[in-house]
Amino acid sequence: QWIYLDGNYVTKEDAKVSVYDHGFLYGDGIFEGIRIYNGNIFKCKEHLDRLYDSAKSIMLNMPLTYSEMQEALVETVRRNGLRDGYIRLVVSRGAGDLGLDPRRSPKASVLIIVEQLSIYPEEAYRNGLKTVSVSTRRNVPDALNPKIKSLNYLNNILVKIQANLAGVGEAIMLNSQGYVAEGSSDNIFIVKRGIVYTPPCYCGALEGITRAAIIALCAKLGYTLKEEPFTLHDVYVADEVFFTGTAAEVIAVREVDARIIGEGKAGPITTHLLQEFRGIVE
Ligand code: PDD
Repeated sequence: QWIYLDGNYVTKEDAKVSVYDHGFLYGDGIFEGIRIYNGNIFKCKEHLDRLYDSAKSIMLNMPLTYSEMQEALVETVRRNGLRDGYIRLVVSRGAGDLGLDPRRSPKASVLIIVEQLSIYPEEAYRNGLKTVSVSTRRNVPDALNPKIKSLNYLNNILVKIQANLAGVGEAIMLNSQGYVAEGSSDNIFIVKRGIVYTPPCYCGALEGITRAAIIALCAKLGYTLKEEPFTLHDVYVADEVFFTGTAAEVIAVREVDARIIGEGKAGPITTHLLQEFRGIVE
């Protein structure tokens, strides 16, 4: 396995960053999770666009141009020889001093890791995940904008801890107004009477690239899709619930806070969207 680290390709053992790196000291940085399907980097442009937007928003000077970054991605994938896998691209503010001031971190650090990945067993795609809602609230745009895919994932990790404590695979995060935002690392959709709903990003959802692909698929397949705020009640009484994300793809939910969703397995629209999604990527 070869890891790209600031222009060099190094082994896992040699992939070391400074203890003064502000990604480590303060979570000061940004990242992307990207899939490789059949040797192709899926939605590469969309991920790089989001990365450069995140960088601009937090005033992080990218050490590579857009095309250099693209080349680094392609070359790292090539060197690892994986036909199917997962790419983690991280850009941190870089090494500085112990103070917060980003002016003391003269050079941002870039690392690219390529790995095999499967987070859920195939069975989970048919039968759905058990989930709970959690007390951790998603930042809404008055704090750190959730559109920035930053290294500050503590909220999401607290959500994951609550999911672990409840013995379930994923959890649902609300925003501070009580509207449903997203999962710990995926976007959420519900289906009611044949209509597909997902929260608008202003509710506190990342502008997910899989989310956008599913919205486009709904249009193509003739499903009405509405970006509308909804509450946990709407989730409980939905006919189908599913999450979308680079790692998760499209995964059904069979239970939320002990309420069984629909038939307690992946519903017809979820199954259809997953099939079509896998058709696009394969
Ligand atoms: N997750 N919401 C959050 C908080 C996320 O971290 C992610 C991505 C998503 C889905 O976005 P996309 O479809 O662009 O992946 C939503 C990780 C890191 C992943 O799935 O790889």
